[in-house]
Amino acid sequence: MRVLVTGGAGYIGSVLVPKLLARGHQVRVLDRMFWGLPHYAGQRGLELVNADVRRMPEGVLDGVDAVDHLAGFSNDPTAEYSPDANWQMNAVATETIARLCHAAGVRRFVFGSSCSLYDGAADAETLLNEESALAPRGAYATSKRYSEEALLAQSDDRFEPVIIRQATVYGLSPRMRFDLVVNAFVKDALIRQRLLLHGGGHMWRPLIAVDDLAEAHIACLEAPSELVAGETFNAVGENHQVRELAEVVAAELVKLGKPVALETAPLPNLVRDYRCSGHKLRERLGLQFTTTPTIAVEQLVAEYGRIPVEQLGHPRYYNIAWMELLERARPAFAAMDNIFEPIEE
Ligand SMILES: NC(=O)c1ccc[n+]([C@@H]2O[C@H](COP(=O)([O-])OP(=O)(O)OC[C@H]3O[C@@H](n4cnc5c(N)ncnc54)[C@H](O)[C@@H]3O)[C@@H](O)[C@H]2O)c1
Repeated sequence: MRVLVTGGAGYIGSVLVPKLLARGHQVRVLDRMFWGLPHYAGQRGLELVNADVRRMPEGVLDGVDAVDHLAGFSNDPTAEYSPDANWQMNAVATETIARLCHAAGVRRFVFGSSCSLYDGAADAETLLNEESALAPRGAYATSKRYSEEALLAQSDDRFEPVIIRQATVYGLSPRMRFDLVVNAFVKDALIRQRLLLHGGGHMWRPLIAVDDLAEAHIACLEAPSELVAGETFNAVGENHQVRELAEVVAAELVKLGKPVALETAPLPNLVRDYRCSGHKLRERLGLQFTTTPTIAVEQLVAEYGRIPVEQLGHPRYYNIAWMELLERARPAFAAMDNIFEPIEE
């Protein structure tokens, strides 16, 4: 089938798209290319469309069988930096694309939502499932919730939204992010040989490896309607206390002869402490998530432990730092759109 992947040049998309191509699918990637052309550019079966989800180009859904929607601001800091642009990208655009799909007869629509929708109501004693109460906090999670509701409201026999509430993702991607907890610990350990554990690091986090998550997206794109249409799934590999993740990273660096100090730091204002079940997705689609933080940390250290540590601090690895840099550079490039200003129609 032909799949339109929005945001396909990002951290998750850069792992997902090559897998889709390897399975024989045609892939059209629509992305603002904030981080440049993806590493897979030029592969057979691939089309790249440099465009904004807030302004879908004419004909971009022609011949498309399914959409996998990943584009937009992808964390709290970028959403809080420009809540208006976030709302347009992460809420309004999702609803609009769904309407376009409906009109164009594109049935399957897989949406990269977030487990952070649970986080405000959560107590770490309860293992949250898809029926648990939602309590999004902040611009990012609120916009994801709006998108979920807008998609499900359009669900019918012509349109099959599938919502994937993704846990915090970790592991190697050709478009690397070091602003996600496991990856950030690897980077901090390599740069400073010191990890800060806020409040002792006892907070729980649901996590999933990027490789396993990409497989989950493919399964949701390919599954028969009766298994996934109009369904919401948590995508969670394991839940861990933050402290445990730091210990995994420290153990890996000891192998390089680099001891890492784990230091307690004050709790931040916003504390995330919750656990989610990924049972429904695994059971329904027969998925087995095989990567663990231990495996991924070993791969990350093997890949990034051999480059000069100062390169690990480059803004391109941190979404908010990169967006701010692009915004500052914009006056020098007349052709560059404003990222944060809402698009006027
Ligand atoms: N990474 C995680 O831990 C995580 C967890 C839960 C949910 N998610 C969601 O999954 C999706 C992908 O996350 P990611 O980690 O790959 O993020 P990412 O920031 O690496 O990728 C996002 C991609 O979307 C593109 N993009 C951004 N705004 C756009 C716009 N207006 N129009 C077109 N393209 C645009 C960017 O250029 C980038 O390639 C996001 O929707 C994010 O909210 C991610």
